[in-house]
Amino acid sequence: MADTARSDRIELQSLQALDDADPLAAMRERFLLPKNTVYMNGNSLGPLCRDARERMSTVVDSEWGKELIRGWNTAGWYEIAGRLGDKIGRLIGAAPGQTVVSDSTSVNLFKTLAAAVALRPERRRIVTEAGNFPTDLYILDGLSRQMGQDFDVDIRRRDDVFDSIDEQTAVVVLTHVHYLSGAIFPMAEINQRAHDVGAIVVWDLSHSVAAVPTELDATAADFAVGCGYKHLNGGPGAPAFTYAAARHHREMRQPLSGWFGHAEPFVFDDDFVPAQGIRRMLCGTTPVLGASALEASVDLLLEVDPSARHSKAKKLSRIFQELIEQHCAGLGLRLVSPADTEQRGAHISYAHEHGYAVMQNLIAKGVVGDFRAPRGMRFGFSPLFMRYTDLHKAVRTIFEILDSRSYLDSTYQRKQAVT
Ligand SMILES: Cc1ncc(COP(=O)(O)O)c(C=O)c1O
Repeated sequence: MADTARSDRIELQSLQALDDADPLAAMRERFLLPKNTVYMNGNSLGPLCRDARERMSTVVDSEWGKELIRGWNTAGWYEIAGRLGDKIGRLIGAAPGQTVVSDSTSVNLFKTLAAAVALRPERRRIVTEAGNFPTDLYILDGLSRQMGQDFDVDIRRRDDVFDSIDEQTAVVVLTHVHYLSGAIFPMAEINQRAHDVGAIVVWDLSHSVAAVPTELDATAADFAVGCGYKHLNGGPGAPAFTYAAARHHREMRQPLSGWFGHAEPFVFDDDFVPAQGIRRMLCGTTPVLGASALEASVDLLLEVDPSARHSKAKKLSRIFQELIEQHCAGLGLRLVSPADTEQRGAHISYAHEHGYAVMQNLIAKGVVGDFRAPRGMRFGFSPLFMRYTDLHKAVRTIFEILDSRSYLDSTYQRKQAVT
């Protein structure tokens, strides 16, 4: 017993030393985090940063409150879709003019998939992964029905995806970092393979942006979409982004041809003429409040050297994994993610027979991750606000809950609407 307490102390000391030497440590102060909470869910909903709160109050009180409709011209609201798009572009390796902010990821998937298949009118096959994030599969299903089920939607096991991309393939749609396992698809290789056979790739970067190095231009990517509320910390329901490589701009057309994607929205012409460039991926009015919060949080991310962010996320993830192996072996956890941190994004998942109840019990004790059916417990590593010593509390709490089986209490079994 004394030995366990001693090793626990040594562990805490070495984690404290890592915090003391952490070049990103000061960034934590830029966030508003509840006390006594280890927040390991920035991969699902990033926390509020002080700059976003301040920006929101300015937008609400001074811009919307005082400028009213003039804000579109005086406060930069009209330009925010492209301006913020370019800032996000810097996080995903995209040169300016190829990324816009609008709508949700699901809607942007619909638009980009439709635009991508229209670029290969002679082909009828779309390849994706079984177990992809549900919205990607559902949107694909909806699009194919919309097109009279004229498409062969080929849903492959992960290991078969690469080889199944062939001369009949119009589009490949994949999530770069898997939502549950965190496994990373090799973007450069898949883009190359698809281009060798004349296919187009649409990437879902929801779990990649600001989490792993992502190089769209350098890997010759075609299209991409991603969420604003995960590692980008834009807030619940923050608008999403769309990337389209400049070489596709002239030809690409998407079906949600709303007025914000028109070449001259304020001419009020009866006929739709798409805007030049990436703006044709827009549909309706930009959600200015959400985009403003997102812009503040993206500005904060851009203050930090990306390699420092990525290497701290990997280190947090590796130490967490090692501590779980040391302290929670034999307690029913099974690693669902790749064991190598190089092969996974900034989250890790474990399956447990009572995963839902264990996660509810953890949340009640101030360690916040999330649950993904049927058994997955997901923990995220956000380098801007997480401390190495947080891992100590997290693993200790996981051990106590699993060891005592306190999760069997009926309060933790009750299913909530959002898991
Ligand atoms: C990979 C992936 N794509 C898309 C989404 C969500 O899309 P939307 O913002 O449209 O709900 C998620 C949400 O968790 C996701 O993990």
